Amino acid sequence: MEPTASGARPRLTVLGTGYLGATHAVCLAELGFDVLGLDVDEHKIALLHSGEVPFYEPGLPELLRKNLEAGRLRFTTSFEEVGAFGDVHFLCVGTPQKQGEFAADMTYVDACFRALVPHLRDGALVVGKSTVPAGTAERLAAELARTCPAADVELAWNPEFLREGFAVEDTLTPDRLVFGVTSEAAEAKLRAAFAPVLELPTPLVVTDFATAQLVKVAANAFLATKISFINAMAEVCEATGGDVTLLSKALSYDSRIGGRFLHAGLGFGGGCLPKDIRAFMARAGELGVDQALSFLREVDAINLRRRARMVDLARELVGGSFGGMRVGVLGAAFKPNSDDIRDSPALDVAAAIQRQGAAVTLYDPAAMDNARARCPELGYRESALEAARGADIVLHLTEWSEFRQMDPATLSDVVASRRIVDGRNALDPARWRAAGWTYRALGRP
Ligand code: UGA
Repeated sequence: MEPTASGARPRLTVLGTGYLGATHAVCLAELGFDVLGLDVDEHKIALLHSGEVPFYEPGLPELLRKNLEAGRLRFTTSFEEVGAFGDVHFLCVGTPQKQGEFAADMTYVDACFRALVPHLRDGALVVGKSTVPAGTAERLAAELARTCPAADVELAWNPEFLREGFAVEDTLTPDRLVFGVTSEAAEAKLRAAFAPVLELPTPLVVTDFATAQLVKVAANAFLATKISFINAMAEVCEATGGDVTLLSKALSYDSRIGGRFLHAGLGFGGGCLPKDIRAFMARAGELGVDQALSFLREVDAINLRRRARMVDLARELVGGSFGGMRVGVLGAAFKPNSDDIRDSPALDVAAAIQRQGAAVTLYDPAAMDNARARCPELGYRESALEAARGADIVLHLTEWSEFRQMDPATLSDVVASRRIVDGRNALDPARWRAAGWTYRALGRP
């Protein structure tokens, strides 16, 4: 894409090159902007510079290499270089859960912001994209006004809604854009930075700081609630003999309810939904509105109960004790098409079962290295077949298409017993049962 005739296309920088930042930097370059990405991790920057994405994200490596070759995308570890280069700076660093607390850890956002501010040029716009507690934008804007040596520098908030596994698509063609701004000048700069996306067209909501920050956590809280709702129904199905997959299907035809994020199973994990609902509750407590979000405690509890139920069901099926049992686990990532194991239900279950005395052998198409680093005590195998070899029970915990399409007959010969628990309600029970397997799942007979 060629620059606009007016030459008004801003130069963009992206600070933090994790899932969000690396994707954002690459996609902005793909949209035709000159982009400079920054990270304090020299190893990550060296990888990106050489055309390697430091995590698994379908489609991203190809776009990275294309835009490096086109000369639109560069990476650095220098805040000075970023400040001198950019008109608009996107803050994309992580806000993990604080150790031993529900609240978000703001250390990285604050450190990155403070390192950037002294180097900003006159007229620069700093745009927060990280998921933060309400009030952060107001705090950073005040600090910017107080400490930045440059003139006409402003802050804006632009939350991000990308899903891992679909990050490129979600960034290039988002469902909506949200601009939290306090001036028309900031809005105009953001519009210029998103011009090709706005032209698609893409719905835009322009709002104040507080709303912009809340949209993000409200969206994740809603999605988490929807998943926990159907998982609560799964618990009731287990008590009544109902089938949650059919219940969900029947609900989904009501367009007011819809079928997305209504898939019952092992529940939600990852680097966002679990920690975002907890940070949201923590912030609500500080704001004196904890009652408004007390239902999120139950959302979290339902979600974690699914993991415990999975362990109990597997133990029940092998005769009441894991002692001396071999358990084959398919999947470690928190969802398919990702190598992310942060708060992964699959890995959590595998580790719990190993702690209860079983020998767990695990395979995941992309998350092996991350899983091995987090849980070195588990046995890692190079294929689904090897993970299942000699198993007294096989657990399907992350619904990669490789597992969904697996022919039960291929596993039949290698396992010690034909028992499978489908933690994601993604296998065809009739097919597995026809091949002589005991098939069990969460929320259905
Ligand atoms: C989530 C949101 O979907 C994004 O919109 C948001 O931008 C992102 O968090 C973020 O805050 O950065 P992501 O964590 O990539 O994206 O994963 P999701 O696709 O939302 O899945 C989350 C978890 O829910 C997974 O463990 C998945 O297996 C589980 N899930 C999802 C279900 O158990 N059932 C469903 O019906 C859907």
